[in-house]
Amino acid sequence: MNKKSMTLVNIITEHLKKPRIVVAEIGVYQGDNAEFMLRQLVKAKYKVTFYGFDLFEDAGSYNLKKTNPGVYDDTVAAGKIHTMSASTVHSKLKRIIPSILLIKGDANKTVPKFADKLKDCDFFYIDGGHDYNSVKNDWVNVNKIAKIGSIIVFDDVHAPGIKRLTNEVEHTGIKMTKAFGSRKYLIK
Ligand SMILES: C[S@@+](CC[C@H](N)C(=O)[O-])C[C@H]1O[C@@H](n2cnc3c(N)ncnc32)[C@H](O)[C@@H]1O
Repeated sequence: MNKKSMTLVNIITEHLKKPRIVVAEIGVYQGDNAEFMLRQLVKAKYKVTFYGFDLFEDAGSYNLKKTNPGVYDDTVAAGKIHTMSASTVHSKLKRIIPSILLIKGDANKTVPKFADKLKDCDFFYIDGGHDYNSVKNDWVNVNKIAKIGSIIVFDDVHAPGIKRLTNEVEHTGIKMTKAFGSRKYLIK
C-alpha cells in the first residue's frame, strides 16, 4: 500500500503482527477517532488495551487559566471545543472493548505518571495540544517511554507548532513516514 494513503489502522496492521496490542491516544476529545479505530481493530481481530489522555471536561477552563488570563477562550488549536466528560467517553468506548483506561488531566504531567503502564505500548497517537510547547512535551515524554519497535504518530503535521516539532525531530536523523490525513509516523 502507498504509505501516504495509510490510515491509523493500516499503519497498525502493516507493522504490528501480533494478536494483543496496547494503544495510547494523547488528545481523545469526544472519542470519535478512538471509537472508529477500536472498531476497526476489533474487526481485524486484535485484542486491544487502550489508554486515552485528555483534559476532557476541563479543557475550557484549562485554556482560560493557561493561555489567556482575563479572556475566556473555549477553543483549542484544532478548532472549537465541545467538551465531553471522561466518563461519557469511557462509556462510549467501553461498548467496543473492555480494556479502556482514560486519564484526565494535562498530558504533559499525566503521561510521565503512567510511564510504567505505557512502557508496553505498541502505538502512540499524539493529537493533544497543537502548540509547539505542548506537542514538544508530548514527544519528549512519549519518546522516553516508548520501547524499540513501537510506533509514534503525529496528527495535524501541517499545524505550525507540530510542523516545527516534526521538522526538528527529522533533523536529528529520525526517519518519519507521511500517512493519510496530515499525519507522520516513526518507528522507534
Ligand atoms: C484535536 S483534539 C483530539 C481529537 C481526537 N484525537 C479525535 O481525532 O477524535 C485535541 C484534544 O487535545 C486535548 N488537549 C489539549 N491540550 C492537552 C493537554 N495539555 N493535555 C491533555 N489533553 C490536551 C483537548 O482537550 C482536545 O480534546
